[in-house]
Amino acid sequence: MDHFHYSDGSLYCEEMEFEALAERFGTPTYVYSTRTLLGHFAALRRAFAPLDPLICYAVKTSGNIHLLRLLQECGAGADVVSGGELHRALTAGVPADRVVFAGVGKSTDELREAVAAGIHCVNVESEQELTVLAEVARHAGREIRAAVRVNPDVAGHGTPLKTTTGTRGGKFGIDLDRVPALFDRHGARHPVQLTGLHAHLGSPIYDPAPYVTAITRLLELRDKLEAAGHRIRSINIGGGFAAAYETGTAPGWDRYAEAIVPLLAPFVAAGGEVVIEPGRSIAANAGVLLTEVRYVKDAGDHRVVVVDAGMNNLIRAALYDSFHFIWPVRPHGGLVPPGRAVQLGLPGLQPYDLVGPVCESTDYLARGRHLPRLARGDRLAIFGAGAYGMAMASQYNAIPRPPEVLVDGDRATLIRRRETYADLIAAELDL
Ligand code: LLP
Repeated sequence: MDHFHYSDGSLYCEEMEFEALAERFGTPTYVYSTRTLLGHFAALRRAFAPLDPLICYAVKTSGNIHLLRLLQECGAGADVVSGGELHRALTAGVPADRVVFAGVGKSTDELREAVAAGIHCVNVESEQELTVLAEVARHAGREIRAAVRVNPDVAGHGTPLKTTTGTRGGKFGIDLDRVPALFDRHGARHPVQLTGLHAHLGSPIYDPAPYVTAITRLLELRDKLEAAGHRIRSINIGGGFAAAYETGTAPGWDRYAEAIVPLLAPFVAAGGEVVIEPGRSIAANAGVLLTEVRYVKDAGDHRVVVVDAGMNNLIRAALYDSFHFIWPVRPHGGLVPPGRAVQLGLPGLQPYDLVGPVCESTDYLARGRHLPRLARGDRLAIFGAGAYGMAMASQYNAIPRPPEVLVDGDRATLIRRRETYADLIAAELDL
């Protein structure tokens, strides 16, 4: 399912050798596999097929318009959280009626843009937002569908606190017990058709149990709302499906679906619509950050490898202590990994601290990582970088952001060029 493999001691993305990509595009560079991206999307869709859901890919995960275009051609919609993401999605050709819009702090302008585009649904996260949305829609003379983002007070087991979004007291959504009164006050009154419920628990949610709890609560809430005369036509269960960072195997979409489909099947059979908003599970293992060793030095009893990618390109390790599997693209001694998790215990490896060039002590990509011997000029693949990699990249330390390259079979296409020094200061000059 993941189309990254070693052949004759050299790493390939589909049929493209990474060494050749490094020569052509330089480093650091984000490399995406078309087959992996679309394969994941197709597998996810198959798993949930009995619900025939609207699958809105979370644009924040990896929002390059060329990736969005590929996904939308396969039927994906878009989950956006800003006017900028809406712009990306529409530019990529995502039909407006397949776009859902979440986010706690949408501006009035962003709501106007959503109404003008005629998107599928605005997921409102406060009563005030709902009021503003109604004003905006009335002013535009347009109807708009809305869902309430419910805070179901459910946490994922092992989900980092920093990426947990569905527990009471947090900033996201509206408390479950406050929702009925809100429906009573607003109902599905013109111009806002308030007919949906939405929840997103966090990212990643490693097992199906939290979904089961949250969906059960949403369905109970829906019964309560319907008993009070409201109509619930749509249930959005958010994203959060995990990606396998350590083994490289596809995540268990079937495992999630087995638990979720039976719960929602009666709702769908009764004419209800299900929306899901996956990001990481589709994109994480479809992308690799290709980097080159600049220097190797000893510091205390650590061997430090300075590479040309850092927290400015991939902030996840620095921000969340996330694990990314890392391996040379052409390892000395031909030592290719038998599996991503088996780095310890392989003979011929030594521990390295992998650091980036940024002037911050948290700029580590990995600590004490066992790898084959590394030397200046060696290239490394940082796996699992397709989600929240480039999307969270910055120009910190005034280092231009890297290019993005899309591989399809034996073709590699530049889908975002490397930024230049001129890009760094353009917005300061263009006044
Ligand atoms: N829907 C909503 C409303 C979200 O806030 C998110 C992610 C998603 C869907 C997609 O979740 P996914 O399927 O990708 O798990 N930067 C962090 C992850 C933050 C996720 C934010 N919301 C990381 O690098 O781990």
